Amino acid sequence: MNDTLIIENERLEIQLLLEAIYLKYGHDFRSYAFTHTKRRLEHRRSIEGFKNFSEMQHRVIYDEAFFNSLLLDLSINVTEMFRDPWFYKRIRDVVLPHLKTYPYAKVWHAGCSAGQEVYSMCILLEEEGMDDRVQVYATDFNELILQKAKDGIYPMDLVRDYTANYQKAGGLRSFSDYYSADYDNVIMKRSLKDHVLFSSHNLVTDGVFGEMNVIFCRNVLIYFNKELQNRVLQLFWDSLCPGGFLCLGSKESLRFSSVADKFDVVSEREKIYRKKRSPSTL
Ligand SMILES: C[S@@+](CC[C@H](N)C(=O)[O-])C[C@H]1O[C@@H](n2cnc3c(N)ncnc32)[C@H](O)[C@@H]1O
Repeated sequence: MNDTLIIENERLEIQLLLEAIYLKYGHDFRSYAFTHTKRRLEHRRSIEGFKNFSEMQHRVIYDEAFFNSLLLDLSINVTEMFRDPWFYKRIRDVVLPHLKTYPYAKVWHAGCSAGQEVYSMCILLEEEGMDDRVQVYATDFNELILQKAKDGIYPMDLVRDYTANYQKAGGLRSFSDYYSADYDNVIMKRSLKDHVLFSSHNLVTDGVFGEMNVIFCRNVLIYFNKELQNRVLQLFWDSLCPGGFLCLGSKESLRFSSVADKFDVVSEREKIYRKKRSPSTL
């Protein structure tokens, strides 16, 4: 078999595997960026010693526990507290002053992973005296990781980095005010999640999410292909109220997307955008 044929056959096997996952479990990875998906599947294939992806497909269909480990491979949950501190500084300086003018606001963290992004925002809201009038929604499609977000328990050895990020982000207190130590872990202060609702939501298969004032979706779109990115960005546009803010990750941008002209750029470096109010963009 020549190289081109091998690559084509492998692509076909991966497509069939993703189709099987979708039909059996309802998780739709068919429009994720192919190179990324292939790399993650390859990782699992070599750990488990499967000869090819067709063998893996059989296991996925008959073994739900195996599917769950594959789901973890495919979802990439890397995150941290105050990730890209300059981003949070900008949120404090530019976005929160707008929210302060509203009697009540809604914030959605889509693809929140284990919750560090959510707790970072809750800390900002508390420091700005806004926690009582902001409802935060934290969603992810991975139930296991969502449970970690709800628990808000993180390894102690990460706290040094989290503290440094918090300080760079312009934190007003000591980061240790927000957790209690428990052996090798820290437990985030309970009151931080008083106004957070954690729930399962899949950006590919689920619909619009309320009338949001701010949406965070950071380091999630990079895993989608262009068409899916545009579809999800349209979902965000539909879920935002006029003048609402969309905050993306450092490697993501609205530039070249199908919704680019429906948003104003607030800060290109920090990837903060604002839904236009003008009726001509509706
Ligand atoms: C790299 S983490 C980003 C976490 C956090 N937003 C940050 O920037 O630190 C990507 C998250 O997106 C979630 N995700 C991937 N595909 C998703 C989908 N279709 N719907 C909802 N969440 C998804 C993954 O489970 C993972 O927790």
